Amino acid sequence: VNERRIEELARERTLSAGELAALLATLTDGEAELLYARAREVRERYYGKDVYLRGLIEFTSHCRNDCLYCGLRRSNARAERYRLSEEQILACCDQGYELDFRTFVLQGGEDVAFTDDVVCDLVRKIRARHPDCAVTLSIGERPRESYERFFEAGAERYLLRQETSNPWHYGRLHPAELSIANRKRCLRDLKEIGYQVGCGIMVGSPYQTWDFVEEDLRYMADLQPEMVGIGPFIPHKDTPFANFSAGTLEDTLHLLAVIRLMLPEVLLPATTALGTIDPRGRELGLLAGANVAMPNLSPRDVRAKYLLYDGKICTGDEAAECRLCMARRCASVGYEVKVCRGDHVSRQRVA
Ligand code: SAM
Ligand code: SF4
Ligand code: FES
Repeated sequence: VNERRIEELARERTLSAGELAALLATLTDGEAELLYARAREVRERYYGKDVYLRGLIEFTSHCRNDCLYCGLRRSNARAERYRLSEEQILACCDQGYELDFRTFVLQGGEDVAFTDDVVCDLVRKIRARHPDCAVTLSIGERPRESYERFFEAGAERYLLRQETSNPWHYGRLHPAELSIANRKRCLRDLKEIGYQVGCGIMVGSPYQTWDFVEEDLRYMADLQPEMVGIGPFIPHKDTPFANFSAGTLEDTLHLLAVIRLMLPEVLLPATTALGTIDPRGRELGLLAGANVAMPNLSPRDVRAKYLLYDGKICTGDEAAECRLCMARRCASVGYEVKVCRGDHVSRQRVA
């Protein structure tokens, strides 16, 4: 029955109510191979063997929010806080450019020091120095006006995971002041403004069920994001979720492949969290339909302070090492890093 479900999903891009959850809940290893093979076919139809790179700059570890799963939450008094200066961020981009990155992802906690003016200024400077590069922001929830200003300043992409589409589940993962309604409002605004938008979830987060994951998949089918960030939940020792177990490699790979079949053209990263729970996690992610890799481009002296979860990889490595390491990993599974902005196919202009 799962083989029939996989073929139907590959053909129709969806399944009827309850079937996505049932597939994910009962998939065997043998059936998963069929799912991965179909996902690779679809991925290669749109993106060939190319892997798009993004240079991840973790520019601040200050956060006003208190998400229960995250090591940067404001209640974590043991988190080491830092904030990169404009000069440091621009230097990261310059170094990244030399390393062939053509997309810079500025990610951080919701840091009040980075006002709209400061962010706009930074985006403008990066775009002026590297006009052939894209800037992605991942700085959380802001009013629509802020998103409009960032877009005008030259940021073309935004990553904001919904974390879970189910309101009850959202309430288990976040303090009462955060709501799924506002999260979805942000994602809708970003889409309307014209960003390439990335949503996503953590696999195996506390209290998650396959029914909730199905809700997430249906939300994605409705939103039609250009990117989907999927990684396993991994506990952090100084958070309320310290004693929950991490999401599994298998569940994450299954979900990557299902998303590839539902959103054939989507940009899908093999995430750092996936590489953290298994040494070959990111390579297996590529073989399950992922087509993006995000090597760390943050200065080495701050890396160990951007700890969202325990055991995070790449905290002791230089940007150049991560870049080379990633090229090797892609090649080891038959894929190849492509030096380009790596836009969604719908935004790729013919030169
Ligand atoms: N503050 C911004 C936000 O929340 O969108 C951007 C940075 S936040 C650290 C980026 C992502 O990290 C979140 O969307 C969340 O899914 C992920 N994350 C946080 N804690 C995690 C954990 N314990 N395990 C896995 N992923 C985690
Ligand atoms: Fe802050 Fe993002 Fe972590 Fe939530 S997930 S505490 S918003 S850095
Ligand atoms: Fe950072 Fe391998 S990608 S060391």
